[in-house]
Amino acid sequence: MPGPGHFDAHADAYDRGRPPYPPALWARLRDLRLLRPGVRVLELGAGTGQATGPMVEAGASVVAVEPGERLAARLRGRWPQVRVAVGNAEEVDLEPGAFDLAVAATAVHWFDLGTVLPRVHRALAPDGHLAVWRTGYGDPDAPVTPFRERVGAIVAARRAPAPRPGPGELDDAAWAERLAGGGLFRVVHRDRFRWAVDLDADRVRDLFTTFSDWTPEEADAAARAAADLGGTVRERYVTPLVVLRRVA
Ligand SMILES: C[S@@+](CC[C@H](N)C(=O)[O-])C[C@H]1O[C@@H](n2cnc3c(N)ncnc32)[C@H](O)[C@@H]1O
Repeated sequence: MPGPGHFDAHADAYDRGRPPYPPALWARLRDLRLLRPGVRVLELGAGTGQATGPMVEAGASVVAVEPGERLAARLRGRWPQVRVAVGNAEEVDLEPGAFDLAVAATAVHWFDLGTVLPRVHRALAPDGHLAVWRTGYGDPDAPVTPFRERVGAIVAARRAPAPRPGPGELDDAAWAERLAGGGLFRVVHRDRFRWAVDLDADRVRDLFTTFSDWTPEEADAAARAAADLGGTVRERYVTPLVVLRRVA
């Protein structure tokens, strides 16, 4: 299975194709008083800033950790006020006690949690929080659309689908257990956001190119499917959120 370098290799497609997170998620983080003006955020695996931007706009001061140099360059270009540390969450220098909130947006499955969680614990202030969310591209409870049938056929035609390590993106109960299992954090909130986005064929190609288990030919086939189906398709996604509080 391709590694996380896949995202950096497709930085432009990533920037164009990955959708932002739903407004309801940001509203929930504001309601929980986690996102507020002046809050000091440590974002791990920031990509080109799909989560960074709304946090900056909400008045947060953000330090972003991103190992991909091309992704980091785009992030810096767009949000010059964000301090970007290029490197892995397992290795970059993190100032102890310097953050109120650590965030991992669709990135937690790439981390060695045994290393990263103690580092995040040290980097957070005593009453700090960790917010982890991850988008599932597809909603198993939504009716199957013609586009989803075509996507299913592309996936079914693969010779040996590579199993993904760790719990699935919608298995937030298992993720909550993993994140709290070491005793450094306790779960204080769980949520699930269902949302929709309209994608034209070019956006489909860009987005599916960014999926680390999709080949360029498969992404082209998905784009052709969108073109065949009228040019724009409505996709339904689910983003589970787990919020944990640092345990003293
Ligand atoms: C699916 S992307 C998510 C990017 C962005 N947060 C978003 O919401 O679209 C996963 C990101 O995690 C980064 N990443 C992978 N392994 C990492 C690690 N060990 N430490 C920090 N970031 C990592 C990748 O380079 C990539 O930018």
